[in-house]
Amino acid sequence: MRHPVVMGNWKLNGSKEMVTDLIKGLNAELAGVEGVDVAIAPPVMFLGLAEELLSDSKIILGSQNVDVNANGAFTGDISPVMLKEFGATHIIIGHSERREYHNESDEFVAKKFGFLKEHGLTPVFCIGESDAQNEAGETEAVCNRQVDAVINALGVDALNGAIIAYEPIWAIGTGKAATAEDAQRIHAAIRAHIAEKSEEVAKNVVIQYGGSVKPENAAAYFAQPDIDGALVGGAALDAASFAAIAKAAAEAKKA
Ligand code: 13P
Repeated sequence: MRHPVVMGNWKLNGSKEMVTDLIKGLNAELAGVEGVDVAIAPPVMFLGLAEELLSDSKIILGSQNVDVNANGAFTGDISPVMLKEFGATHIIIGHSERREYHNESDEFVAKKFGFLKEHGLTPVFCIGESDAQNEAGETEAVCNRQVDAVINALGVDALNGAIIAYEPIWAIGTGKAATAEDAQRIHAAIRAHIAEKSEEVAKNVVIQYGGSVKPENAAAYFAQPDIDGALVGGAALDAASFAAIAKAAAEAKKA
C-alpha cells in the first residue's frame, strides 16, 4: 500500500520570523495527525533554523535543489552531504521553475536524481507539461520523456523509494488547477508507463499532484486511486491551509 506524502515547497519565500511562526504553527496543527507523511522544503538558508524547530516533530525536512557535486570549487551550489547534515531528506529536483530559469535539462535532472540516491536522500522528482504542450495533446509524451531520462540513466529500480510530482506548469501558481479526473488520468498513464519496465516499481512509487492545490480542492485529488499526495506551493505558506491539505490526504487514504 502506498503511503501519501504531502510536501510544502516554500520556493523563495521566508524570513527567520516567518519560518519560526510557520513551523510552530504546523507543529501545532499537525500534532497527532496519522496516515500521511508531511514534509516541508524551506529555502536552504533556513534549514538550520527549521531543523531546530522540528526537533520534536514528525514533519520531515526537505529542500528545494541539490548540485551534482558533494564539495569543492563549485561556487553557490548545494551539497547533498550538507543537506543531510541538516537533516533534510526529501529533495525537490526537476521543478519546472529550475528547468525554465536555470536551463536544467532532463539529463541534468536525472544526474541529480542519481546523486541524491547515492547519498541516501529521497528525490522528489518533478515532471509536467507546459500550457502549449497540453494544448497540443503532448502531456503524456512529455511526462514519459522526463521519466525516461531517469530510467535510461539509472534503471527503473532507481524510482524505488523516490517520489514523482506531476505538476502541469500551467497549473502552478495560477489558481487554474487540473481537474481531479484529468490529473488521475495522467497519473495512471505515468504509472502505466513505468509498469512497462517494472510493475512492482510502478505499484509502489508515490506520485504527487502539484499545481494550485488548496484546502478546497485537495480532497478531490486524494480520492483518486493514483494520486498519492500533493506538492503544494502557495498554500504551504499558511499553516492552517497546509495542515488542512495534509489532513485531507490522511482522511482520504485511510485503508
Ligand atoms: P502552487 O501550489 O503555488 O500552484 O505551486 C505548486 C508548485 O510549484 C509546487 O512545487
